[in-house]
Amino acid sequence: MASTRIGLAADNTLQSICYKRGSLQLLDQRKLPLETIYLEIQNSTDGWNAIRDMVVRGAPAIAIAAALSLAVEVFNLEEFNGSPADASPNAVNLSDAATRLKEVILNAAATTSEARSVFQAFIEAAEIMLEDDVASNKAIGSYGASFLQQHSEKPKFSVLTHCNTGSLATAGYGTALGVIRALHSAGVLERAYCTETRPFNQGSRLTAFELVHEKIPATLIADSAVAASMKAGRVDAVVVGADRVASNGDTANKIGTYSVALCAKFHTVPFYVAAPLTSVDLSLSSGQEIVIEERSPKELLNSHGGLGEQIAASGISVWNPAFDVTPANLISGIITEKGVITKADADTFDIKLSYKRLVTRPR
Ligand code: MRU
Repeated sequence: MASTRIGLAADNTLQSICYKRGSLQLLDQRKLPLETIYLEIQNSTDGWNAIRDMVVRGAPAIAIAAALSLAVEVFNLEEFNGSPADASPNAVNLSDAATRLKEVILNAAATTSEARSVFQAFIEAAEIMLEDDVASNKAIGSYGASFLQQHSEKPKFSVLTHCNTGSLATAGYGTALGVIRALHSAGVLERAYCTETRPFNQGSRLTAFELVHEKIPATLIADSAVAASMKAGRVDAVVVGADRVASNGDTANKIGTYSVALCAKFHTVPFYVAAPLTSVDLSLSSGQEIVIEERSPKELLNSHGGLGEQIAASGISVWNPAFDVTPANLISGIITEKGVITKADADTFDIKLSYKRLVTRPR
């Protein structure tokens, strides 16, 4: 049954993932900000459908929702007659999360013949993933806020962000929006600017909702107003999230991020990426190797990112890439949960070296 009260974490941030062992509810983000509806997720098929249909979105939230939907499924199995080998998660491309969870299952299966014990190990690992993501985001917020303060000439400053990277896109607190939250808590945030983020409007529907909920001084602008906002001197820094960071620092994120970065370069506004180290993909030498997902033409042909009525002429051809790649030379720094990765020289990052240095460091 769907519940209609917004879930709040202990720190009062909005919760899109409400989990208790054996039970998972996902906030239907397609209905925000006007309706708050949580959908009951009983198994990995429900989880898969929720991800496909954009009920839950944002790179970290998707991985955690997938892991937890399987955790709920195995917890609720009344009887399991299979062998531990049958318990592997059916996650073909769940990259990092899937690899880590698969390792947990294989290790557990190697030490026990009890399927239940393997399930238990999987459930615990998925739950740790949920807790870890919040802790990691809080660390990103704290490192990012200190770094921005150290590099600002003003006592209070304004930050622009793109898409949604808040508690709704993650297990809680958020990455880029976490930095904005931390700046606000430190009393140094003049104002946050959030873009609409067309065509799916993650900025106007989700980020604006979170900013209003948190009572953070904030202004919503059209994506096409970014250059004008910088020319008017309204923006002192940009912080965005990431879906994937290549070894040279090229970063894939929501479509429009590249345009924001170009505007920032032209107006000498520092442009930061905030992401956990799990977003770094050392197997890619540059962003050229990142495959860009294209989404339904309906997102442009219809209002509300495809959820409303038709607004464009039938018969027009549509190109709708959901992400773009911002080249490293437009990025001033990458804020992680272990510290900020800065440039090796004016144009390039040595992500491999920085990753090696940071990954073993305590938060
Ligand atoms: O299409 P979405 O809403 O899943 O895209 C989300 C983004 O691009 C986010 O900016 C990105 O995943 C980083 S989330 C912390």
